[in-house]
Amino acid sequence: MPTPLTITTAINYPNGRPHIGHAYEAIATDAFARAARMMGRDVYFQTGTDEHGLKVAQASRARGIEPQQFVDELSSYFKAMDDKLNISYDRFIRTSESDHHRASQAIWEAMAANGDLYLDRYEGWYSVRDEAYYDESELTPGEDGQKLSPQGTPVEWTVEESWFFRLSAYQDRLLALYAERPDFIQPESRRNEILRFVEGGLRDLSVSRTSFDWGVKVPGSPEHVMYVWVDALTNYLTGCGYPDDAARMAHYWAEGGDIVHIIGKDIVRFHTVYWPAFLMSAKLPLPRTVFGHGFLLNRGEKMSKSLGNVVDPMVLAETFGADPLRYFLLAEVSFGNDGSYSAEAIVQKTNSDLGNAFGNLAQRTLSFIAKNLDGRLPAPAPLPEDEALLAAVREAAQHEVPRAFEAFAPSDAIQAWLHACFACNAYIDAQAPWALRKTDPARMEAVLATLYVAIGELAVAILPVIPASATALLDQMGVPSSARGYTALADDWYSPLRSGDFIITPPKPLFPRLELPVETA
Ligand code: MSP
Repeated sequence: MPTPLTITTAINYPNGRPHIGHAYEAIATDAFARAARMMGRDVYFQTGTDEHGLKVAQASRARGIEPQQFVDELSSYFKAMDDKLNISYDRFIRTSESDHHRASQAIWEAMAANGDLYLDRYEGWYSVRDEAYYDESELTPGEDGQKLSPQGTPVEWTVEESWFFRLSAYQDRLLALYAERPDFIQPESRRNEILRFVEGGLRDLSVSRTSFDWGVKVPGSPEHVMYVWVDALTNYLTGCGYPDDAARMAHYWAEGGDIVHIIGKDIVRFHTVYWPAFLMSAKLPLPRTVFGHGFLLNRGEKMSKSLGNVVDPMVLAETFGADPLRYFLLAEVSFGNDGSYSAEAIVQKTNSDLGNAFGNLAQRTLSFIAKNLDGRLPAPAPLPEDEALLAAVREAAQHEVPRAFEAFAPSDAIQAWLHACFACNAYIDAQAPWALRKTDPARMEAVLATLYVAIGELAVAILPVIPASATALLDQMGVPSSARGYTALADDWYSPLRSGDFIITPPKPLFPRLELPVETA
């Protein structure tokens, strides 16, 4: 049995509605989870909302409602976004759930038992927007004498009694971890940033707050709530059964297991410095990889409420369709780098790749079969050119595409797939089955049979990216569910389908041509 995969997104702050950055992370992680399932792996995919902390407490106060009521409402928008985008999560966790409180208290107790927590007074800078403590040396001057964090958010001077975690004691172990496991932090550029940060020395971390009470209570210190990042990071363990379900933990959070966190570049420090140190302290296994993806920019500009360019992913999915949006984001941005999006670019890419290169190929072939063979599936009689096409399609569909997903390179997966689509289009033009109809009907059938198999395999290959449309096509083509995986692709599904009584009906276009909506033009 292949190793199970535990894969997660960051959990989102429900202090406002979801934006396209949240959608992007969910879509990419979903594609990786789907691809791994198609490789026959047992996958646990978790996403959710990070509901505690000052930022959410302040947002609920601004609305004049209790934090719980506030997060109940806001969290539902994130779940609705995931559902609209076809995100195949196994659990949508909310950190206000009781099993999560229990897991957070258990990791706290384990860190305390290891002698890593002590009570002191915190005096320093805090950014509510980032929910992060910063050293004076990291700050830059902003307007009106305001100091700004490295993320450009305002910081405030904070003084309170606090529990501390002995992060300073973990510097050497963390450096050893990065040295021994070069894949722990990906991509390489983020790894270098973190190495430099940790080599510069680590201070102990303030891990509780006393000035507000919206959070997980510190065991034995009920006037303290945990620093939101302690409970937030622990969400990954909660879903894997910590602390009570040892069998589930042994399966999904095992030593040497495949545990992957997909997060944005702004929160790599939390996941690759604090998180492994907490886990080492609690004597728990570490993740295999933390991948810090880039940021999505709106026409090259950072999105912000003040610029008024924050785009609602629900509106985009409604306007263009969930699959075109998924396809565009994964194809356009090289995973790890920043990327830009615009309505024009989504329309252009969808029409050219999904509409012209793939959709037309399927549409032309299936309608031709429906019309000229009365829906009966054509008989193969392969010539070398048919075999060459199928070999090229198979190389892409069975090797290049899944390998690229495993390497967290969805745009490479899509490139390989698109090349195979182009090869099919070149083949159909060269073979001209419509001309063969009169001159050589047997050869026409052989060409159509080759195309049928190629299209089926291309539809399977692209399932992680456009699950709804690829599934609709596979259903239309009668491809059995047993053939819809990367490991199953080598099997011959076409001969049994053809010898059965399957009839292909005239297909509906999969990707209707998109037009630019007037208001975004
Ligand atoms: N709650 C924390 C994460 C805790 S994980 C234990 C948080 N939440 S967030 O809502 O601010 O961000 C959630 C995710 O979205 C993060 O991985 C973040 O990097 C990502 N993104 C936020 N804005 C983004 C873009 N503009 N583009 C791409 N991803 C972005 O941080």
